[in-house]
Amino acid sequence: MALYSEKVMDHFRNPRNVGVIEDADGVGEVGNAKCGDIMKIYLKINDDVIEDCKFETFGCGSAIASSSMATELIKGQPLSKALELTNKAVTESLGGLPAHKIHCSVLAEQAIKRALRDYYDKNGIDYDHELLADKDAHEEGEEEE
Ligand code: FES
Repeated sequence: MALYSEKVMDHFRNPRNVGVIEDADGVGEVGNAKCGDIMKIYLKINDDVIEDCKFETFGCGSAIASSSMATELIKGQPLSKALELTNKAVTESLGGLPAHKIHCSVLAEQAIKRALRDYYDKNGIDYDHELLADKDAHEEGEEEE
């Protein structure tokens, strides 16, 4: 079996929603100290709906595919949907990732959570701190190499 699913390859080769939103309502940036990859997510929010979502990822193919899929999953959706997004949902939508690449999908979840926190903080809106807390990549069952 190929190491990467066709979906992963597709989102890696033709990533959706790449770019910057200059007047974003929320921006979230995360990095993984171990691999050095960096991901930035921009959200445009209107009436509790994610009107637009873009990303910049300086990282591996799985990180690019994960950011692309994650933005597709929340774009046009209500905030409640973005709040529930997990790296597991991103991975499943991609048709799976190898165990040592699961942390790439965690970066996507994390970047979105930070962008949502940024939005809530900027607008003085209270939120569930536990739900939007930073998550350790290794919580998701990633094996140490
Ligand atoms: Fe670290 Fe992919 S190898 S994000």
